[in-house]
Amino acid sequence: MPPNPKFDVTKLVFPKVLDKTDNTNKFSCGTVEIDEFIHKQAMGFQEQRLGVTYLFHFETELIGFATLCMDHISKHRISAKDRLTKPINSYPGLLIGQLGVTEKYQHKGAGKYICDFCFDRALKLSQNVVGCRFLIVNALETAIDFYVNYGFTLAPKQEKQKQKLMFLDITKRKRMYSARRVS
Ligand SMILES: CC(C)(COP(=O)(O)OP(=O)(O)OC[C@H]1O[C@@H](n2cnc3c(N)ncnc32)[C@H](O)[C@@H]1OP(=O)(O)O)[C@@H](O)C(=O)NCCC(=O)NCCS
Repeated sequence: MPPNPKFDVTKLVFPKVLDKTDNTNKFSCGTVEIDEFIHKQAMGFQEQRLGVTYLFHFETELIGFATLCMDHISKHRISAKDRLTKPINSYPGLLIGQLGVTEKYQHKGAGKYICDFCFDRALKLSQNVVGCRFLIVNALETAIDFYVNYGFTLAPKQEKQKQKLMFLDITKRKRMYSARRVS
C-alpha cells in the first residue's frame, strides 16, 4: 500500500457540486446532524433547490463540504453599530446552511479554506447577479470560535438559542479564496 499523501490545503481543487454519483457515506465530522445531512438529505435538498452542496476533495478523498442557500438577516437581530445606513429592515445574504470537515482532516486549514470558498461565492453573487451583503451562519456552540476567528460577528441576545446567528459583512473583509479550478 502506498503511504497516505500528506495533506496540503493548497492542493485542494475547486469543489464539485454534489450529484447522484457521489458516495458520501464515509464522511464523518463528528457532529451527527451534519453527518446525517450529507449522508441522507443533501441530495434531496439540492433537487428541491433548497441548498447546493459543494464537495471538497483531497486527492480522491472527500474531506469537507458546505451547503449554500439564499437568506436574509433582520436589522433588529444585529447591533446598531453593525447596521447599514439604508432604510431597510432586512439585509440579503448567503447562508452557510451546513459545513463540515471530516475528523481526520480537521485543524489543518480545510475549514477556513471552505469558508473562503463560501465568501467568494457571496462576493461573486453580489457583483451584478443578486443583492448579497452578508455571509450568514447559524453556528453550533462548539463552532462559534472557529467563525469568530474567520471574521464573523455573533448576533447579540441569543443565550437561549441552540444555534447562534452569526454574520459577516462581505464588504469588510478581504477576498482570500485561491482554489485551483480544474476543468
Ligand atoms: C468547525 C470545523 C468546520 C473547523 O474546520 P477545521 O478544518 O478544523 O478548521 P481550520 O483548520 O480551517 O481552522 C481555522 C482556524 O480556526 C481555528 N479553529 C478550528 N476549529 C475551531 C474550534 N472548534 N474552535 C475554535 N477555533 C477553531 C483553528 O485553530 C484555525 O486558527 P488559525 O487560522 O488561527 O490557525 C470542523 O472542526 C468541523 O467540521 N467540526 C464539526 C462540524 C461543525 O461544527 N461544523 C460547523 C457547523 S455550524
